[in-house]
Amino acid sequence: MFRIPALDLPPLQAADGTVHLPGSKSISNRVLLLAGLAEGSTAVYGLLDSDDTQVMLAALGALGCGVRREEDPGREPVTHITGLGGRLRVSTASLFLGNAGTAMRPLAATLAVLATTQGGRFDLSGVARMHERPIGDLVDALRPLGCDIAELGTPGYPPLRLTGQAGGRLNTAQPIQVRGDVSSQFLTALLLALPLATADSDVVIEVQGELISKPYVEITLNMLTRFGIAVQREGWQRFTLPCSNGASPYRSPGRIDVEGDASSASYFIAMGAIAAHGGAPVRIEGVGLDSIQGDIRFVDAARAMGADVRGGPRWLEVQRGRWPLAGITLDCQHIPDAAMTLAAMALYADSPTRLTGIASWRVKETDRIAAMAAELQALGAAVDTGDDFIQVTPPVRWRTAALRTYDDHRMAMCLSLAAFNPLASVSPAPQLPVRILDPQCVAKTFPDYFEAFMGLAHASAEDIPVITIDGPTASGKGTLAAEVAQALGWHLLDSGALYRAAGLAAVAEGVSPDDEAAVAAIAASLDLRFGQGEDSGRTWLRGREVTHELRLESTGLLASKVSALPAVRQALHGLQLAFRCVPGLVADGRDMGTALFPQAALKVFLTASAFERAERRHKQLISKGIPANIADLRVDLEARDERDKTRSASPLRPAEDALLLDNSHLSIDESVQQVLAWWQERSPFAQATAGGSNPG
Ligand code: DC
Repeated sequence: MFRIPALDLPPLQAADGTVHLPGSKSISNRVLLLAGLAEGSTAVYGLLDSDDTQVMLAALGALGCGVRREEDPGREPVTHITGLGGRLRVSTASLFLGNAGTAMRPLAATLAVLATTQGGRFDLSGVARMHERPIGDLVDALRPLGCDIAELGTPGYPPLRLTGQAGGRLNTAQPIQVRGDVSSQFLTALLLALPLATADSDVVIEVQGELISKPYVEITLNMLTRFGIAVQREGWQRFTLPCSNGASPYRSPGRIDVEGDASSASYFIAMGAIAAHGGAPVRIEGVGLDSIQGDIRFVDAARAMGADVRGGPRWLEVQRGRWPLAGITLDCQHIPDAAMTLAAMALYADSPTRLTGIASWRVKETDRIAAMAAELQALGAAVDTGDDFIQVTPPVRWRTAALRTYDDHRMAMCLSLAAFNPLASVSPAPQLPVRILDPQCVAKTFPDYFEAFMGLAHASAEDIPVITIDGPTASGKGTLAAEVAQALGWHLLDSGALYRAAGLAAVAEGVSPDDEAAVAAIAASLDLRFGQGEDSGRTWLRGREVTHELRLESTGLLASKVSALPAVRQALHGLQLAFRCVPGLVADGRDMGTALFPQAALKVFLTASAFERAERRHKQLISKGIPANIADLRVDLEARDERDKTRSASPLRPAEDALLLDNSHLSIDESVQQVLAWWQERSPFAQATAGGSNPG
């Protein structure tokens, strides 16, 4: 996948609106594994679609489970899993599990148990960081059962090989001992896997040491109940899985609805507490105060800092309460993941915030205590850390920073909150953009996080950077602008498409393209929709798809005519300005740098010789099977250039401060790199990057 190296967020002033949360990662992967082990089929609604669930789905598929995704328009997407009924379908598999602890640990336990009793050989591996995340306590718990587990790399860490002979027996007569003080995922893994071993007797698990992250174990118990397994628990020390009398113990509930992710909700709760100060709240849909996820208790912590939170079943509404936020001291063992968000909220408090009980941060996607300390310091905060705590004193003077994310989705999401720095209660108030390096690491749990974040955040228009790309017909502006926008993660305005659409709409209404007032009236109420995400590149006019029609030569000619009418240009002015949205805009056309965005930070005027442009257009048409002749095309292009240049309303000409780019002999990629290089020279991060203080 193409990954953008950095996302620059402009200084943000406020937030409001509604976010629909993706499904909970913890629930999703537990449900998938249980459905994969159960007899029959389970329809899973609200499943998280992210890196971590993809690797689990792929693993289930490789093990012989049925996996079928149904995405019908107008209906909620559903994933159907047909389970193994506790019986292995394949005897060997090599499973790659990325950096998903919620896949690695439970699959290791499950396949160890299955290989021991039914025979087989299973290899489990992941990315380099996965091989640095401990699994020794789980291996130590499984070996006394008779499981044959080889550590293929460093002892105590993945990759693992799980081997066994058919007809083997598990030694479950003694209670199984597991440490609970490094990661609760080891206990969760055993609880999910050991129902496979309850054919003729109860199985007892005993936790050694203080169990951390109990709420995650509660999710495990809750999901087991849904799949027909009632675990008896004595405190948090002893768990008994009842004898299943030979039957497959996992029973599919038929349908399961996954809640929105409570940890993902924390960023929007924080956003509301910091930036919903204009009346309307930030509304979060998918998770509510009745959630079974432990991280919902983040709400209490956010309230203690000053957030005003209301909620009901599967919804929350948050706005600013106390301001500035209050610094707090909190033992965060019960909310290990969401606690990171408190560290980011601490930037906006009027006293230090001390988070304790967070030793587990050190063995997550990265060493989160060290990572958080380094990046909050880069923003100007004073940070103190120890083995199991972090203390954050808010910045007195904020600094422009290119923030590293350590391939850790939660680092990226937490640090995005720093873009609200104009709201910090310091004088003078900062107005700093924030650079998030490798922003797409959010794909681990929330692939569309930044789209959702930016959809709620407001910046002052003048803080939203604009790059204009003007130039004559067929100079390659459209392609260049689209690629630059994609590389920066910015919005795109293809202003020519607006004139083309206005022309089409006029013709459709039987209005002559020369009738200035009538065409202007049509342009003023243009009902045009550009596709987003999977639909990007498609366009609808008044609900009808016009993607193809819009690009026709005849439509271009029509646009050239209507765009010469001053009233039409005026009518489209406001619509074009409205494209300037967080985090930035690349605008292509004829007058982007001169009339629409005269203050743009970078203006490019693209040219290519008429010969070159005619050749390109010729190739394009031929490739679409449209007959064309170069000489005619050239005459046409020159005539259109002439009309665009000599018309009185916004004639085509470079802005005085535009940089000329003649791309006659450049590839598209070379042109894109040139524009990006010009932009980087102008960016407030130029020095941070050049100084090497923030490697990507
Ligand atoms: O870029 P394009 O080929 O889609 O543009 C179609 C016509 O619209 C072109 O002849 C000039 C006109 N146009 C304009 O006048 N101002 C713009 N900002 C964009 C396009």
